[in-house]
Amino acid sequence: MNVKHRPNSNRSLVAVLDGKAMSPPPLWLMRQAGRYLPEYRAVRAEVPAFLDLCLDPDRATEVTLQPIRRFGFDAAIVFSDILMIPYALQRSVRFVEGEGPRLDPIDEQGIAMLPADGVGARLTPLFETVSRVRASLDGEKALIGFCGAPWTVATYMVAGKGTSDQAPARIFAARQQALFQRLIDRLVDASVESLVGQLKAGADAVQVFDSWAGILNEPDFDRWSIAPTAAIVRRVRDAVPEARIIGFPKGAGLRLERYVRETGVDAVGIDWTVPLDLARTRLQPLTAVQGNLDPIVLLAGGGALDRAIDAVLNALADGPFIFNLGHGILPETPIAHVERLVARVRGGS
Ligand code: CP3
Repeated sequence: MNVKHRPNSNRSLVAVLDGKAMSPPPLWLMRQAGRYLPEYRAVRAEVPAFLDLCLDPDRATEVTLQPIRRFGFDAAIVFSDILMIPYALQRSVRFVEGEGPRLDPIDEQGIAMLPADGVGARLTPLFETVSRVRASLDGEKALIGFCGAPWTVATYMVAGKGTSDQAPARIFAARQQALFQRLIDRLVDASVESLVGQLKAGADAVQVFDSWAGILNEPDFDRWSIAPTAAIVRRVRDAVPEARIIGFPKGAGLRLERYVRETGVDAVGIDWTVPLDLARTRLQPLTAVQGNLDPIVLLAGGGALDRAIDAVLNALADGPFIFNLGHGILPETPIAHVERLVARVRGGS
């Protein structure tokens, strides 16, 4: 365990990020504010476009708080999106109903025109949401800020949309490594500005979502996932020394241990494919672990859900651990299953 000298906190999630084991463990769910909640769908219906919701501190605060009110989770995650960074970098970003994000695919000229700094101005609504949420949140609840990792954000900027294998970004990076490095460097700068702004506005911790880390080959994992994330961790801590940072390199598998050692994150998010004994014996001695219930099992419910929850708790709850899913909650998930999860993790059933 890293030795850290930080003030104690009455926020359970913060205590875990400082290396403590908590019983019951703090609990939140990735994408906990979203379409599985009728109250989210009602607020979403009031605005024409998804980005309008992210840019409206009133509504973004409301939807951030909805899952805390309903389920009493231990942490709120500010309502925003990883594609706010390309938006802040003056790229065109829109969300097509039922299809997902659409961006103008970036090329050499687009990369040359990316602003070197000053993205904070376009992120003011995000920082405002963070401070409003903090002001409305109970003292024991933690508030998490976030950004996408540079590699994952770059995959959407290059392809202009989500793809199943991120081939456009992988081909771009292989053919034009120096140019792709420039894009990654701008994304590191913008991510640092965003995370520092969120921490200064009142976030207790920040999470770096590298949803597409797992698709990278070995040298590219070092180059495009570990190195930029390590740079973000270092620079955020230079600006905010007590910053607590969770890394989530989805799909990293056997490379998780090296990711933890080389980025220096305070916690690592693990997806549902990571063996629990590997998480306990190889990762938890280095850092706090967050995860990793399969979102499909939460959607399915029943005895399989109970058994999966117990397996995660039995493996990880004796060490520094944050209960979460292995990826975002699915929109079709029944609310009753989330209620059952909360009761079981807290020891009520
Ligand atoms: O977790 C939370 O509750 C906070 C909000 C949050 C959103 N997106 C809101 C959102 C967070 C943390 C994200 C992260 C995000 N966004 C990631 C990384 C995590 C992951 O899921 O891999 C990625 C890759 C994105 C990009 C993105 N945003 C896509 C591909 C899509 C479309 C697919 C989809 O799920 O609809 C979005 C849209 C989006 N972001 C929605 C929400 C609630 C759904 C759109 C809507 O409600 O209209």
